[in-house]
Amino acid sequence: MANLKVGIIGLGGIARAHCSAIDTLDNVEVVAVADLFEEKRREYMDKYDIPKGYPTHTELLKDDEIDAVAVVLGHQLHHRLTVDACNAGKHVLVEKPMALSLQQCDEMIEAAASNNVKLMVGQTQHFYGTSLKAKEILDSGQLGPLMTIICYMSKNWNFASRPPQYRSRFHGGGMWLANGVHVVDRLTWLMASQAVSVSASIGTRAHYQASDDTATALVRYKNGLAGVAVSVGFADGAPNFESQVICANGTLRFSQHGEKFVKVGQGDEWKDIPFDDPPVEMHHEWKSFVESIEQGLEPPTSGEWGRHIMEILFAAENSAISGREVILENGLSWTHQRHGVPVTRNHGWI
Ligand SMILES: NC(=O)c1ccc[n+]([C@@H]2O[C@H](COP(=O)([O-])OP(=O)(O)OC[C@H]3O[C@@H](n4cnc5c(N)ncnc54)[C@H](O)[C@@H]3O)[C@@H](O)[C@H]2O)c1
Repeated sequence: MANLKVGIIGLGGIARAHCSAIDTLDNVEVVAVADLFEEKRREYMDKYDIPKGYPTHTELLKDDEIDAVAVVLGHQLHHRLTVDACNAGKHVLVEKPMALSLQQCDEMIEAAASNNVKLMVGQTQHFYGTSLKAKEILDSGQLGPLMTIICYMSKNWNFASRPPQYRSRFHGGGMWLANGVHVVDRLTWLMASQAVSVSASIGTRAHYQASDDTATALVRYKNGLAGVAVSVGFADGAPNFESQVICANGTLRFSQHGEKFVKVGQGDEWKDIPFDDPPVEMHHEWKSFVESIEQGLEPPTSGEWGRHIMEILFAAENSAISGREVILENGLSWTHQRHGVPVTRNHGWI
């Protein structure tokens, strides 16, 4: 099959990771970039040998050569640009967090469906070598049924160099939406179940800013289990990106950042488990996106998946404000996941 032709919209820091990942794959290439700043366009076009550069997404979306786009800019723009891209007939990989309301998520899903294009949310953590090995171990059943999971992302918020949109909840900023989205994604994926309710404490403790910097959420799932998501941006400390999984016949810890490892605990000892490390972190993410387009498959982190993660995040914010547990949309239906799929019994005992 001919190469999938991609346009990258928004050339901030993380766009480099997207271009580098595409460079590691044979069947996809970046043919255009869009950014408001000429020097950024020039930098990317020179570095990655990209032929075309446009000043805004509007011009890029008119380019008929482009099959798919990556929407890689401010959180408040994800919704508008994704809908525009779908309406222009392009497949979309949109960065996390998916959007700023469930209504926006629904409109993005609807725009993809009605234009018959794929929508994937860049929930990067699904695709790391460490995550894939951990998931493979859990799915194999070798550690027995799941009992509970705690996922962390605690790190220096780097207030001084943090771009202003990240310090403003109005623009979708704060530790919870920007990074808690990774933690909740990881937790929910490992749980292999749909969330039914959330109870959380979220606040601003270490910085003077209009968004949160600390969040702890207890999420209940349809498989009868609960997990904890911790997402904290401190002013000084040392990072922790771990996921800690407790099963009936073994325990599991893994981390992609800081120290990179996968460990299984059995017989009162932790043992290091080897894992395949892809050439760059977004390699498997782009491979999955391209495969889903070429083979007509639903992407692993589809619009529906991204929406569910946002539903948990928004419910956690509501819980923090009200001081109560918040029941999610499908929370009262204990036997079926969204779209009528029966609740999995592979990971729990209900
Ligand atoms: N997956 C990850 O691990 C990860 C890591 C970092 C950032 N991100 C996400 O990536 C996204 C981008 O983050 P960033 O910090 O690189 O962004 P950024 O704010 O640094 O860069 C955005 C760029 O978009 C450009 N832009 C704005 N409006 C435009 C338009 N209409 N058309 C074309 N260009 C336009 C701006 O000029 C700017 O250069 C965010 O959603 C962020 O959460 C994800």
